[in-house]
Amino acid sequence: MVMAIPLLLAQLLLLAVALAAVQAAPGLHPVVLVPGYATNELDARLTELYRPSSPGCGARKGEGWFRLYLNYSALQDPGNVPCFAEQMSSVYDPAADDYSNVAGVETRVPFFGSTQAFRYPDPDRKNFSYMSTFVERLEKTGYRDGETMFGAPYDFRYAVAPVGRPSRVGDAFFRALKNLVERASGLNGGRPVVIATHSFGGLLAHQFLIRQPLAWRRRFVGRFVPIAAPWGGLVRGMQTLVSGNNLGLPFVDPRALLRQGRSQQSSLWRLPSPAAFGAATPLVTTKSRNYSAGDVADFLVAIGLGEAVGPYESRVLPLFGGELPHPGVPVTTVVGVGVGTPERIVFPGDDFDATPSVVAGDGDGVVNLVSAVAVETSWSHRGVDFSMVKVSNMSHNALLVDDRALEIIIREIQRAD
Ligand SMILES: *[C@@H]1O[C@H](CO)[C@@H](O)[C@H](O)[C@H]1NC(C)=O
Ligand SMILES: *[C@@H]1O[C@H](CO)[C@@H](O)[C@H](O)[C@H]1NC(C)=O
Ligand SMILES: *[C@@H]1O[C@H](CO)[C@@H](O)[C@H](O)[C@H]1NC(C)=O
Ligand SMILES: *[C@@H]1O[C@H](CO)[C@@H](O)[C@H](O)[C@H]1NC(C)=O
Repeated sequence: MVMAIPLLLAQLLLLAVALAAVQAAPGLHPVVLVPGYATNELDARLTELYRPSSPGCGARKGEGWFRLYLNYSALQDPGNVPCFAEQMSSVYDPAADDYSNVAGVETRVPFFGSTQAFRYPDPDRKNFSYMSTFVERLEKTGYRDGETMFGAPYDFRYAVAPVGRPSRVGDAFFRALKNLVERASGLNGGRPVVIATHSFGGLLAHQFLIRQPLAWRRRFVGRFVPIAAPWGGLVRGMQTLVSGNNLGLPFVDPRALLRQGRSQQSSLWRLPSPAAFGAATPLVTTKSRNYSAGDVADFLVAIGLGEAVGPYESRVLPLFGGELPHPGVPVTTVVGVGVGTPERIVFPGDDFDATPSVVAGDGDGVVNLVSAVAVETSWSHRGVDFSMVKVSNMSHNALLVDDRALEIIIREIQRAD
Protein backbone atom coordinates (compact mmCIF):
# COMPACT_ATOMS: atom_id res chain seq x y z
CA MET A 1 0.00 0.00 0.00
CA VAL A 2 2.80 2.38 0.93
CA MET A 3 4.38 1.92 -2.45
CA ALA A 4 1.09 1.99 -4.31
CA ILE A 5 0.24 5.60 -3.48
CA PRO A 6 3.33 7.23 -5.01
CA LEU A 7 2.89 4.98 -8.04
CA LEU A 8 -0.73 6.05 -8.41
CA LEU A 9 0.29 9.67 -7.97
CA ALA A 10 2.97 9.30 -10.58
CA GLN A 11 0.44 7.76 -12.96
CA LEU A 12 -2.03 10.56 -12.30
CA LEU A 13 0.70 13.09 -12.89
CA LEU A 14 1.61 11.49 -16.19
CA LEU A 15 -2.05 11.43 -17.18
CA ALA A 16 -2.40 15.12 -16.24
CA VAL A 17 0.64 16.00 -18.32
CA ALA A 18 -0.73 14.03 -21.27
CA LEU A 19 -4.15 15.67 -20.97
CA ALA A 20 -2.63 19.14 -20.73
CA ALA A 21 -0.64 18.50 -23.89
CA VAL A 22 -3.80 17.53 -25.78
CA GLN A 23 -5.97 20.31 -24.35
CA ALA A 24 -3.53 23.17 -24.79
CA ALA A 25 -2.44 21.95 -28.24
CA PRO A 26 -0.31 25.07 -28.47
CA GLY A 27 -0.47 26.73 -31.82
CA LEU A 28 -3.14 24.46 -33.28
CA HIS A 29 -5.18 26.50 -35.70
CA PRO A 30 -8.81 25.43 -35.92
CA VAL A 31 -9.83 23.66 -39.10
CA VAL A 32 -13.21 24.01 -40.83
CA LEU A 33 -14.00 21.19 -43.27
CA VAL A 34 -16.30 21.69 -46.27
CA PRO A 35 -17.13 18.30 -47.84
CA GLY A 36 -17.79 17.46 -51.47
CA TYR A 37 -21.06 16.88 -53.33
CA ALA A 38 -23.42 14.30 -51.77
CA THR A 39 -21.16 13.70 -48.77
CA ASN A 40 -23.25 14.99 -45.85
CA GLU A 41 -26.64 14.01 -44.51
CA LEU A 42 -29.83 15.73 -45.63
CA ASP A 43 -33.12 15.48 -43.72
CA ALA A 44 -36.57 15.93 -45.23
CA ARG A 45 -40.17 16.10 -44.13
CA LEU A 46 -43.23 15.83 -46.32
CA THR A 47 -46.07 18.27 -45.72
CA GLU A 48 -49.68 18.27 -46.86
CA LEU A 49 -48.64 20.17 -50.00
CA TYR A 50 -46.63 17.18 -51.23
CA ARG A 51 -48.23 15.45 -54.23
CA PRO A 52 -46.42 12.12 -54.51
CA SER A 53 -46.27 10.57 -57.97
CA SER A 54 -47.32 7.29 -56.39
CA PRO A 55 -49.00 6.61 -53.02
CA GLY A 56 -45.91 4.77 -51.73
CA CYS A 57 -43.79 7.91 -52.05
CA GLY A 58 -46.15 9.73 -49.70
CA ALA A 59 -45.86 7.15 -46.93
CA ARG A 60 -43.91 9.51 -44.65
CA LYS A 61 -46.25 12.45 -45.18
CA GLY A 62 -46.95 14.28 -41.94
CA GLU A 63 -44.58 12.03 -40.00
CA GLY A 64 -41.81 14.56 -39.33
CA TRP A 65 -38.16 14.61 -40.24
CA PHE A 66 -36.42 11.61 -41.73
CA ARG A 67 -33.01 11.08 -43.32
CA LEU A 68 -33.50 11.56 -47.05
CA TYR A 69 -29.77 11.36 -47.82
CA LEU A 70 -28.44 8.91 -47.18
CA ASN A 71 -30.48 5.83 -46.38
CA TYR A 72 -28.26 3.26 -48.06
CA SER A 73 -30.40 0.20 -47.41
CA ALA A 74 -33.60 1.94 -48.58
CA LEU A 75 -32.00 2.62 -51.98
CA GLN A 76 -30.99 -1.03 -52.33
CA ASP A 77 -34.69 -1.59 -53.03
CA PRO A 78 -35.23 -0.26 -56.58
CA GLY A 79 -38.85 0.44 -55.63
CA ASN A 80 -37.72 3.23 -53.30
CA VAL A 81 -35.44 4.96 -55.82
CA PRO A 82 -38.17 6.90 -57.70
CA CYS A 83 -39.46 8.37 -54.41
CA PHE A 84 -35.95 9.39 -53.42
CA ALA A 85 -35.42 10.96 -56.86
CA GLU A 86 -38.67 12.87 -56.63
CA GLN A 87 -37.99 14.20 -53.13
CA MET A 88 -34.38 15.14 -53.95
CA SER A 89 -35.43 17.14 -57.01
CA SER A 90 -35.43 20.90 -57.06
CA VAL A 91 -37.20 23.45 -59.23
CA TYR A 92 -35.90 26.55 -60.98
CA ASP A 93 -38.43 29.38 -61.09
CA PRO A 94 -37.44 31.79 -63.90
CA ALA A 95 -39.68 34.55 -62.50
CA ALA A 96 -38.05 34.39 -59.08
CA ASP A 97 -34.65 33.54 -60.65
CA ASP A 98 -34.00 31.01 -57.90
CA TYR A 99 -34.20 27.33 -57.08
CA SER A 100 -36.39 25.72 -54.45
CA ASN A 101 -37.49 22.28 -53.28
CA VAL A 102 -40.39 20.41 -54.83
CA ALA A 103 -43.68 21.61 -53.27
CA GLY A 104 -44.35 19.91 -49.96
CA VAL A 105 -40.77 18.69 -49.41
CA GLU A 106 -38.96 20.57 -46.65
CA THR A 107 -35.27 19.88 -46.12
CA ARG A 108 -32.64 20.70 -43.53
CA VAL A 109 -28.94 19.96 -43.10
CA PRO A 110 -28.35 18.31 -39.71
CA PHE A 111 -25.28 18.74 -37.48
CA PHE A 112 -24.07 22.03 -38.97
CA GLY A 113 -20.79 22.93 -37.27
CA SER A 114 -19.82 19.31 -36.60
CA THR A 115 -17.96 16.72 -38.64
CA GLN A 116 -20.67 14.31 -37.52
CA ALA A 117 -22.64 15.66 -40.48
CA PHE A 118 -20.43 13.87 -42.99
CA ARG A 119 -18.31 11.19 -41.31
CA TYR A 120 -20.73 8.76 -42.88
CA PRO A 121 -23.53 9.95 -45.19
CA ASP A 122 -25.51 7.06 -43.68
CA PRO A 123 -24.40 6.46 -40.05
CA ASP A 124 -26.02 3.01 -40.25
CA ARG A 125 -23.59 2.02 -43.04
CA LYS A 126 -20.19 2.98 -41.79
CA ASN A 127 -18.28 1.27 -44.58
CA PHE A 128 -19.67 3.76 -47.11
CA SER A 129 -17.88 7.03 -46.45
CA TYR A 130 -15.80 9.68 -48.14
CA MET A 131 -14.61 11.65 -45.11
CA SER A 132 -14.30 9.33 -42.09
CA THR A 133 -10.65 8.35 -42.59
CA PHE A 134 -9.63 11.98 -43.06
CA VAL A 135 -11.55 13.11 -39.96
CA GLU A 136 -10.03 10.27 -37.90
CA ARG A 137 -6.56 11.23 -39.08
CA LEU A 138 -7.17 14.83 -37.97
CA GLU A 139 -8.28 13.50 -34.57
CA LYS A 140 -5.10 11.45 -34.28
CA THR A 141 -3.18 14.64 -34.99
CA GLY A 142 -4.92 16.29 -32.00
CA TYR A 143 -7.97 18.01 -33.49
CA ARG A 144 -11.25 17.73 -31.58
CA ASP A 145 -14.73 18.08 -33.06
CA GLY A 146 -16.42 21.25 -31.82
CA GLU A 147 -13.18 22.53 -30.25
CA THR A 148 -10.53 22.75 -32.95
CA MET A 149 -12.30 20.92 -35.81
CA PHE A 150 -15.61 21.94 -37.37
CA GLY A 151 -17.82 20.75 -40.20
CA ALA A 152 -19.67 22.89 -42.73
CA PRO A 153 -22.20 20.58 -44.43
CA TYR A 154 -24.65 22.09 -46.91
CA ASP A 155 -27.54 21.23 -49.19
CA PHE A 156 -25.44 20.02 -52.09
CA ARG A 157 -28.31 20.27 -54.58
CA TYR A 158 -27.93 24.03 -54.46
CA ALA A 159 -25.05 26.45 -54.98
CA VAL A 160 -24.87 30.23 -55.05
CA ALA A 161 -25.56 32.77 -57.78
CA PRO A 162 -23.42 35.74 -58.81
CA VAL A 163 -23.66 38.63 -56.34
CA GLY A 164 -26.96 40.45 -56.76
CA ARG A 165 -28.95 37.44 -57.97
CA PRO A 166 -31.27 35.50 -55.66
CA SER A 167 -29.86 32.40 -54.04
CA ARG A 168 -31.80 31.77 -50.87
CA VAL A 169 -30.25 28.44 -49.89
CA GLY A 170 -26.68 29.26 -50.90
CA ASP A 171 -26.75 32.67 -49.22
CA ALA A 172 -27.97 31.10 -45.98
CA PHE A 173 -25.09 28.62 -46.14
CA PHE A 174 -22.56 31.41 -46.60
CA ARG A 175 -23.98 33.31 -43.59
CA ALA A 176 -23.75 30.14 -41.49
CA LEU A 177 -20.21 29.43 -42.73
CA LYS A 178 -19.13 32.96 -41.85
CA ASN A 179 -20.48 32.58 -38.31
CA LEU A 180 -18.81 29.18 -37.99
CA VAL A 181 -15.42 30.51 -39.05
CA GLU A 182 -15.69 33.38 -36.56
CA ARG A 183 -16.82 31.01 -33.79
CA ALA A 184 -14.00 28.54 -34.52
CA SER A 185 -11.48 31.35 -34.33
CA GLY A 186 -13.04 32.80 -31.18
CA LEU A 187 -12.91 29.42 -29.41
CA ASN A 188 -9.19 29.23 -30.22
CA GLY A 189 -7.85 32.48 -28.89
CA GLY A 190 -8.59 34.38 -32.09
CA ARG A 191 -6.33 32.20 -34.25
CA PRO A 192 -7.29 32.25 -37.91
CA VAL A 193 -8.87 29.04 -39.22
CA VAL A 194 -7.77 26.69 -41.95
CA ILE A 195 -10.55 25.96 -44.44
CA ALA A 196 -10.00 22.51 -45.96
CA THR A 197 -12.38 21.29 -48.65
CA HIS A 198 -12.97 18.37 -50.96
CA SER A 199 -14.13 18.62 -54.57
CA PHE A 200 -17.29 20.75 -55.03
CA GLY A 201 -16.81 22.09 -51.48
CA GLY A 202 -13.73 23.91 -52.77
CA LEU A 203 -15.72 25.83 -55.37
CA LEU A 204 -18.25 26.91 -52.74
CA ALA A 205 -15.57 27.90 -50.22
CA HIS A 206 -13.75 29.86 -52.92
CA GLN A 207 -16.93 31.79 -53.79
CA PHE A 208 -17.49 32.34 -50.07
CA LEU A 209 -13.99 33.74 -49.57
CA ILE A 210 -13.95 36.15 -52.50
CA ARG A 211 -17.27 37.63 -51.30
CA GLN A 212 -15.90 38.57 -47.85
CA PRO A 213 -14.04 41.83 -47.23
CA LEU A 214 -10.29 41.28 -47.61
CA ALA A 215 -9.70 42.45 -44.03
CA TRP A 216 -12.13 39.77 -42.77
CA ARG A 217 -10.37 37.01 -44.77
CA ARG A 218 -6.96 38.04 -43.49
CA ARG A 219 -8.23 38.24 -39.93
CA PHE A 220 -10.08 34.90 -39.88
CA VAL A 221 -8.58 32.60 -42.52
CA GLY A 222 -5.00 31.43 -42.16
CA ARG A 223 -4.97 29.05 -45.11
CA PHE A 224 -7.30 27.60 -47.71
CA VAL A 225 -6.61 23.95 -48.58
CA PRO A 226 -8.85 22.85 -51.46
CA ILE A 227 -8.44 19.14 -52.27
CA ALA A 228 -9.42 17.97 -55.77
CA ALA A 229 -11.35 21.15 -56.58
CA PRO A 230 -12.75 21.13 -60.14
CA TRP A 231 -12.01 24.82 -60.84
CA GLY A 232 -13.04 24.49 -64.47
CA GLY A 233 -15.76 21.84 -64.14
CA LEU A 234 -15.65 18.28 -65.49
CA VAL A 235 -16.31 16.52 -68.77
CA ARG A 236 -18.17 14.05 -66.56
CA GLY A 237 -20.49 16.96 -65.72
CA MET A 238 -21.77 16.82 -69.31
CA GLN A 239 -21.92 13.04 -69.25
CA THR A 240 -24.04 12.85 -66.09
CA LEU A 241 -26.62 15.26 -67.57
CA VAL A 242 -27.07 12.67 -70.33
CA SER A 243 -26.82 9.39 -68.46
CA GLY A 244 -27.38 10.23 -64.78
CA ASN A 245 -25.29 9.89 -61.63
CA ASN A 246 -25.87 7.11 -59.12
CA LEU A 247 -24.13 9.05 -56.32
CA GLY A 248 -21.54 6.29 -55.93
CA LEU A 249 -24.19 3.66 -55.12
CA PRO A 250 -23.38 0.77 -57.46
CA PHE A 251 -26.81 -0.85 -57.09
CA VAL A 252 -28.66 2.30 -58.20
CA ASP A 253 -29.36 2.76 -61.91
CA PRO A 254 -27.90 6.18 -62.81
CA ARG A 255 -30.81 6.78 -65.20
CA ALA A 256 -33.26 6.56 -62.31
CA LEU A 257 -31.60 9.67 -60.86
CA LEU A 258 -31.24 11.52 -64.16
CA ARG A 259 -34.17 13.89 -63.75
CA GLN A 260 -33.32 14.88 -60.20
CA GLY A 261 -29.68 15.46 -61.20
CA ARG A 262 -30.77 17.65 -64.10
CA SER A 263 -33.00 19.71 -61.81
CA GLN A 264 -30.22 20.73 -59.44
CA GLN A 265 -28.40 24.02 -59.49
CA SER A 266 -25.13 22.33 -58.50
CA SER A 267 -25.23 20.14 -61.63
CA LEU A 268 -24.64 23.24 -63.74
CA TRP A 269 -21.53 24.07 -61.68
CA ARG A 270 -19.93 20.84 -62.84
CA LEU A 271 -20.13 21.72 -66.53
CA PRO A 272 -16.72 22.29 -68.13
CA SER A 273 -15.76 25.94 -68.45
CA PRO A 274 -14.36 27.45 -71.66
CA ALA A 275 -11.62 29.11 -69.57
CA ALA A 276 -10.21 25.71 -68.53
CA PHE A 277 -11.08 23.47 -71.50
CA GLY A 278 -10.92 26.00 -74.32
CA ALA A 279 -13.78 26.85 -76.63
CA ALA A 280 -12.55 24.63 -79.47
CA THR A 281 -11.69 21.23 -77.97
CA PRO A 282 -14.52 18.73 -78.62
CA LEU A 283 -15.69 17.22 -75.32
CA VAL A 284 -18.87 15.54 -76.51
CA THR A 285 -19.10 14.23 -80.05
CA THR A 286 -22.11 13.03 -82.01
CA LYS A 287 -22.28 12.05 -85.66
CA SER A 288 -23.22 15.55 -86.77
CA ARG A 289 -21.85 17.82 -84.09
CA ASN A 290 -18.95 18.42 -81.72
CA TYR A 291 -19.64 20.18 -78.43
CA SER A 292 -16.82 22.06 -76.70
CA ALA A 293 -16.96 23.88 -73.38
CA GLY A 294 -17.95 26.91 -75.45
CA ASP A 295 -21.00 25.07 -76.80
CA VAL A 296 -22.58 24.09 -73.49
CA ALA A 297 -25.78 26.07 -74.18
CA ASP A 298 -26.27 24.24 -77.51
CA PHE A 299 -25.47 20.97 -75.76
CA LEU A 300 -28.15 21.62 -73.11
CA VAL A 301 -30.71 22.25 -75.85
CA ALA A 302 -29.63 19.13 -77.76
CA ILE A 303 -30.09 16.86 -74.73
CA GLY A 304 -33.56 18.30 -74.02
CA LEU A 305 -32.53 20.53 -71.13
CA GLY A 306 -33.15 23.87 -72.81
CA GLU A 307 -34.68 25.30 -69.63
CA ALA A 308 -31.21 25.20 -68.04
CA VAL A 309 -29.67 27.53 -70.64
CA GLY A 310 -31.00 30.68 -68.91
CA PRO A 311 -29.66 29.88 -65.44
CA TYR A 312 -26.42 28.49 -66.94
CA GLU A 313 -25.74 31.74 -68.79
CA SER A 314 -26.87 34.14 -66.09
CA ARG A 315 -25.87 32.29 -62.91
CA VAL A 316 -22.94 29.98 -63.77
CA LEU A 317 -20.90 31.43 -66.64
CA PRO A 318 -20.37 34.77 -64.86
CA LEU A 319 -18.69 32.84 -62.01
CA PHE A 320 -16.60 30.36 -64.01
CA GLY A 321 -16.38 31.78 -67.54
CA GLY A 322 -13.11 33.61 -66.91
CA GLU A 323 -10.11 33.41 -64.59
CA LEU A 324 -10.98 32.76 -60.96
CA PRO A 325 -9.74 35.45 -58.57
CA HIS A 326 -7.11 34.47 -56.00
CA PRO A 327 -8.90 34.21 -52.63
CA GLY A 328 -6.51 36.62 -50.94
CA VAL A 329 -5.34 34.17 -48.25
CA PRO A 330 -2.53 31.59 -48.38
CA VAL A 331 -3.59 28.61 -50.55
CA THR A 332 -2.36 25.06 -50.94
CA THR A 333 -4.33 23.07 -53.45
CA VAL A 334 -3.84 19.29 -53.50
CA VAL A 335 -4.74 17.38 -56.67
CA GLY A 336 -4.62 13.80 -57.85
CA VAL A 337 -3.05 13.08 -61.23
CA GLY A 338 -2.27 10.07 -63.37
CA VAL A 339 -5.68 8.42 -63.21
CA GLY A 340 -7.75 7.88 -66.37
CA THR A 341 -10.48 10.54 -66.46
CA PRO A 342 -13.30 10.98 -69.03
CA GLU A 343 -12.06 13.61 -71.45
CA ARG A 344 -14.29 13.07 -74.43
CA ILE A 345 -17.65 11.36 -74.76
CA VAL A 346 -18.29 9.94 -78.23
CA PHE A 347 -21.81 8.96 -79.26
CA PRO A 348 -21.99 6.58 -82.22
CA GLY A 349 -24.83 8.51 -83.89
CA ASP A 350 -26.92 11.52 -83.00
CA ASP A 351 -28.91 9.72 -80.34
CA PHE A 352 -27.94 10.65 -76.77
CA ASP A 353 -29.73 7.54 -75.50
CA ALA A 354 -27.14 5.31 -77.18
CA THR A 355 -24.20 4.11 -75.13
CA PRO A 356 -21.21 6.36 -75.82
CA SER A 357 -17.55 5.43 -75.82
CA VAL A 358 -15.38 7.37 -73.45
CA VAL A 359 -11.90 8.65 -74.29
CA ALA A 360 -9.83 8.99 -71.13
CA GLY A 361 -7.20 11.59 -70.37
CA ASP A 362 -5.26 12.67 -67.29
CA GLY A 363 -6.82 13.65 -63.99
CA ASP A 364 -8.03 12.04 -60.75
CA GLY A 365 -10.68 9.86 -62.37
CA VAL A 366 -13.36 12.53 -61.89
CA VAL A 367 -11.66 15.91 -62.25
CA ASN A 368 -9.78 16.48 -65.52
CA LEU A 369 -6.20 17.65 -65.07
CA VAL A 370 -6.84 20.91 -66.97
CA SER A 371 -9.60 21.72 -64.49
CA ALA A 372 -7.60 20.78 -61.38
CA VAL A 373 -4.69 22.99 -62.44
CA ALA A 374 -6.79 25.79 -63.97
CA VAL A 375 -5.77 28.27 -61.27
CA GLU A 376 -2.08 27.35 -61.24
CA THR A 377 -0.81 30.05 -63.61
CA SER A 378 -3.05 32.89 -62.50
CA TRP A 379 -2.60 32.25 -58.76
CA SER A 380 1.21 31.80 -58.91
CA HIS A 381 2.55 35.28 -58.86
CA ARG A 382 4.92 37.20 -56.68
CA GLY A 383 3.69 38.23 -53.27
CA VAL A 384 1.01 35.55 -53.15
CA ASP A 385 1.32 32.45 -50.98
CA PHE A 386 0.16 29.71 -53.35
CA SER A 387 1.27 26.16 -53.90
CA MET A 388 -0.12 23.17 -55.72
CA VAL A 389 0.79 19.63 -54.74
CA LYS A 390 0.19 17.02 -57.42
CA VAL A 391 -0.10 13.53 -55.99
CA SER A 392 0.67 10.95 -58.63
CA ASN A 393 -1.60 8.00 -59.31
CA MET A 394 -4.20 9.26 -56.84
CA SER A 395 -7.93 9.18 -57.47
CA HIS A 396 -10.54 11.76 -56.48
CA ASN A 397 -11.72 9.88 -53.39
CA ALA A 398 -8.41 8.16 -52.55
CA LEU A 399 -7.01 11.63 -51.80
CA LEU A 400 -9.02 11.49 -48.56
CA VAL A 401 -8.07 7.93 -47.65
CA ASP A 402 -4.58 7.10 -48.89
CA ASP A 403 -1.70 7.58 -46.42
CA ARG A 404 0.54 9.19 -49.01
CA ALA A 405 -2.07 11.86 -49.79
CA LEU A 406 -3.26 12.38 -46.20
CA GLU A 407 0.29 12.99 -45.01
CA ILE A 408 0.61 15.85 -47.50
CA ILE A 409 -2.82 17.26 -46.68
CA ILE A 410 -2.29 17.23 -42.89
CA ARG A 411 1.12 18.82 -43.36
CA GLU A 412 -0.42 21.63 -45.39
CA ILE A 413 -3.23 22.13 -42.85
CA GLN A 414 -0.63 22.40 -40.08
CA ARG A 415 1.47 24.82 -42.07
CA ALA A 416 -0.65 27.60 -40.59
CA ASP A 417 0.72 26.73 -37.14
C1 LIG B 1 -34.08 3.56 -44.06
O1 LIG B 1 -34.99 2.89 -44.89
C2 LIG B 1 -35.49 1.71 -44.34
C3 LIG B 1 -36.27 1.00 -45.45
O2 LIG B 1 -37.14 1.88 -46.08
C4 LIG B 1 -36.33 2.05 -43.13
O3 LIG B 1 -36.86 0.88 -42.55
C5 LIG B 1 -35.45 2.79 -42.12
O4 LIG B 1 -36.23 3.22 -41.02
C6 LIG B 1 -34.79 3.97 -42.77
N1 LIG B 1 -33.80 4.56 -41.86
C7 LIG B 1 -33.88 5.80 -41.42
C8 LIG B 1 -32.80 6.25 -40.50
O5 LIG B 1 -34.76 6.57 -41.75
C1 LIG C 1 -20.65 -3.06 -45.21
O1 LIG C 1 -21.41 -3.23 -44.02
C2 LIG C 1 -22.57 -4.03 -44.17
C3 LIG C 1 -23.31 -4.08 -42.85
O2 LIG C 1 -23.41 -2.81 -42.30
C4 LIG C 1 -22.17 -5.44 -44.63
O3 LIG C 1 -23.33 -6.21 -44.85
C5 LIG C 1 -21.35 -5.34 -45.92
O4 LIG C 1 -20.89 -6.62 -46.27
C6 LIG C 1 -20.18 -4.41 -45.73
N1 LIG C 1 -19.50 -4.25 -47.01
C7 LIG C 1 -18.17 -4.27 -47.12
C8 LIG C 1 -17.64 -4.10 -48.49
O5 LIG C 1 -17.45 -4.47 -46.16
C1 LIG D 1 -15.38 16.71 -84.44
O1 LIG D 1 -14.02 16.94 -84.12
C2 LIG D 1 -13.13 15.96 -84.67
C3 LIG D 1 -11.76 16.20 -84.09
O2 LIG D 1 -11.51 17.56 -83.92
C4 LIG D 1 -13.19 16.03 -86.18
O3 LIG D 1 -12.33 15.04 -86.72
C5 LIG D 1 -14.62 15.77 -86.63
O4 LIG D 1 -14.72 15.93 -88.01
C6 LIG D 1 -15.59 16.71 -85.94
N1 LIG D 1 -16.96 16.28 -86.23
C7 LIG D 1 -17.89 17.11 -86.68
C8 LIG D 1 -19.21 16.52 -86.94
O5 LIG D 1 -17.67 18.30 -86.89
C1 LIG E 1 -1.46 3.14 -59.00
O1 LIG E 1 -2.46 2.80 -58.01
C2 LIG E 1 -3.04 1.54 -58.20
C3 LIG E 1 -4.19 1.42 -57.24
O2 LIG E 1 -3.88 1.95 -55.99
C4 LIG E 1 -1.96 0.48 -58.04
O3 LIG E 1 -2.51 -0.79 -58.22
C5 LIG E 1 -0.85 0.72 -59.05
O4 LIG E 1 0.20 -0.19 -58.84
C6 LIG E 1 -0.31 2.14 -58.94
N1 LIG E 1 0.60 2.40 -60.06
C7 LIG E 1 1.72 3.08 -59.92
C8 LIG E 1 2.52 3.31 -61.15
O5 LIG E 1 2.11 3.50 -58.83
